[in-house]
Amino acid sequence: MKLNLFKEMVDDFIEKLSQQKRFPDIFREALFYTPKSGGKRIRAMLVLTAAEMFNADIQKAVHIAAAIELMHAYSLIHDDLPVMDNDDFRRGKPANHKVFGEDLALLAGDGLNTYTFSVIANSPLDERKKIEIISWISNNAGIGGMVVGQVVDVLTARERIEKHSPKMLVNFIHKHKTAKLIQASVVSGAVCGNPDEEELKRIERYGLYAGVAFQIIDDYLDVVGDEKKLGKKKVDEINNTLTYPKVYGLKNSYRFAQKLKDMAIDEIKDLKGSKPLIDIAKLIVERDR
Ligand code: IPE
Ligand code: IPE
Ligand code: MG
Ligand code: MG
Ligand code: MG
Repeated sequence: MKLNLFKEMVDDFIEKLSQQKRFPDIFREALFYTPKSGGKRIRAMLVLTAAEMFNADIQKAVHIAAAIELMHAYSLIHDDLPVMDNDDFRRGKPANHKVFGEDLALLAGDGLNTYTFSVIANSPLDERKKIEIISWISNNAGIGGMVVGQVVDVLTARERIEKHSPKMLVNFIHKHKTAKLIQASVVSGAVCGNPDEEELKRIERYGLYAGVAFQIIDDYLDVVGDEKKLGKKKVDEINNTLTYPKVYGLKNSYRFAQKLKDMAIDEIKDLKGSKPLIDIAKLIVERDR
């Protein structure tokens, strides 16, 4: 299946990056421990699938797919730190800070964050495309997206934010901490090719809907999933994290995720070659890890 091939391409690319000499060795290990420890590579698949859909050169787009996985890995390393979600496991292995210590884990995250942009800037895509992609990722992973989502996530869990309705808060959190990076992934892939304005708008909406569905299912699995399969601890209850199941109940949350998946599919189903993106939207909701 194509998605497996895409996953292999990205794994190989990250493997090559990790072989470059870096001093000291222990830092190179901390830097690549999480990016190389597997993961579903959903964001990379979104990049490459959208790239293919808009006739991009996949060998060029793989630089972007790998770069986004580095950004994602940084977000996981920091998310697992004791001062954040305090999760000792990630991708079925001890979390980065359990192996290298909190100091190096923090710095590995910092390193991956900026390395993402170095990989993009040095990729063989044309300059205009690179700037557009950097603009999307820096905003959506940063203070216009993931970072602010994580801020509201922890402030809410620690009751340090003035009264807002839980519905408004959970919607804000999910859209920002998770959906925005997923949106940037699929949009960046499309930008590697040649979408027209209308097509790009459709891809943007697909990304946001599928991204919120992704986090709802993550919450859902934190209740009903199997820790072994998930490869991480179920910590939402312990951390007082605001989740969809907490606000809407388990069944309604699943229904919302289904609805968002349908909305995502509706945006793109009439575009040529959209079948793989439809399949990924389904995968996002039907997964068990
Ligand atoms: C976990 O993401 C963090 C969230 C944003 C929910 P994934 O479920 O994609 O994690 P990996 O990459 O497969 O490990
Ligand atoms: C995703 O939320 C946070 C990130 C942006 C990394 P979670 O905190 O629920 O992710 P998991 O469950 O630890 O993977
Ligand atoms: Mg978290
Ligand atoms: Mg977490
Ligand atoms: Mg979670």
